[in-house]
Amino acid sequence: MGRPDTFRPGIGLLLVAITAVSAVTGAVVRASVSPPGAGLRAGLEEFRRPAAVPQPGDNLGSEVRVALGKRLFFDPRLSASGIVSCGTCHNPGFDWGDGLPRAVGHQMKTLARRTPTILNVAWAELLFWDGRAETLEEQALGPIASPDEMAMDLAQMVRTIDDIEGYRSWFARAYPDEPLAKETVAKAIAAFERTVVSGTAPFDLWVAGDEDAVPLAAKRGFQLFVGKAQCSTCHAGWRFTDDSFHDIGTKTDDVGRGKLFEGVTPLRHAFKTPTLRNVDRRDPYMHNGSEHTLADVIALYDAGGRVKRPSLSEEIRPLALADGEKRDLLAFLATLTSDDPTPAIPALPR
Ligand code: HEC
Ligand code: HEC
Repeated sequence: MGRPDTFRPGIGLLLVAITAVSAVTGAVVRASVSPPGAGLRAGLEEFRRPAAVPQPGDNLGSEVRVALGKRLFFDPRLSASGIVSCGTCHNPGFDWGDGLPRAVGHQMKTLARRTPTILNVAWAELLFWDGRAETLEEQALGPIASPDEMAMDLAQMVRTIDDIEGYRSWFARAYPDEPLAKETVAKAIAAFERTVVSGTAPFDLWVAGDEDAVPLAAKRGFQLFVGKAQCSTCHAGWRFTDDSFHDIGTKTDDVGRGKLFEGVTPLRHAFKTPTLRNVDRRDPYMHNGSEHTLADVIALYDAGGRVKRPSLSEEIRPLALADGEKRDLLAFLATLTSDDPTPAIPALPR
């Protein structure tokens, strides 16, 4: 089709040159020349970032709660083996995942699913790939007690923390009106998790009006994302998720949300739509790591799913994308990555 696959900053200058030449020759070409990418903003507004992080009334985030939660999050003493923390799997160096196809838990056991990022979980409506938890406070104790993850008896966990003098004073300051108990441990961890928010990405700058923030290919990719490829029916809003569950035809034996709703065909093999924030840093992909690269993911959608079964979403069908269109989608996805500083792991209380 002869259009450039990558954005060349020179193109803007070229247009200026054309206009200048036309001014000299007097030819009226100005009206037909518009800046590159103008007109590709349609639909952008729906992806604007929110101003504030939502907070539950009974666990408002505060500096001391977040600082305590961060220590608990990175503390392996919350596990039976003493060597696994939340941060082992939700590693900030891997954008709060672990870079593995499937998580590795207690005694090196490979788990059934991939570790999802905890970026922007403050906004999540349901948690886990199958949505089986409703709040971060409810979710936080699950992995500690799970025999496959941290395998820790919760009463023992509370005793361990209570034996550490440093923690006793942190809890007294963070939750002065509540006892040091599993509930307050969960609250502090949740308060910390709500601060794990992806930063401003080039895409956000484009939404805010900076036309030079993303390449032209990415702008075309965005129009495919909201148009022909229909990605935004599920990857909606600034986090790029509808917080809902779909079978997109991944290669899997896992019935996902179907296990919670037996007999409901569309929920078989249905998993939560993952956020696409910082997605190009979070390979491999899907609930089981079955797609290695973003190009593989695009190939899956282009084919209308790898596996066609009765539960396959109606939104998933062959897309007939040209090679250039696939490249444009990849260029767009790359603009969702923010260059966030990796947080330092805090000194743990003794
Ligand atoms: C052994 C690795 C491992 C450890 C340790 C671990 N997680 Fe996870 N985490 C996972 C996996 C795997 C899932 C997805 C499980 C599923 O969906 O069935 C998950 C899911 C989550 C989710 C849901 C995210 C979403 O978008 O739905 C949150 C939040 C979370 N973990 C927080 C924590 C916290 C807090 C801790 C420590 C108390 C922790 N995790 C410890 C591997 C781990
Ligand atoms: C019918 C809803 C739906 C549509 C349409 C859809 N997705 Fe998805 N997407 C999902 C779900 C659900 C998953 C997770 C599936 C799984 O793990 O089995 C997913 C996973 C992904 C992933 C992997 C993210 C990760 O962290 O593992 C990427 C990337 C992605 N989609 C991009 C796209 C693009 C690009 C399009 C358009 C070509 C698109 N999606 C269309 C629902 C959808």
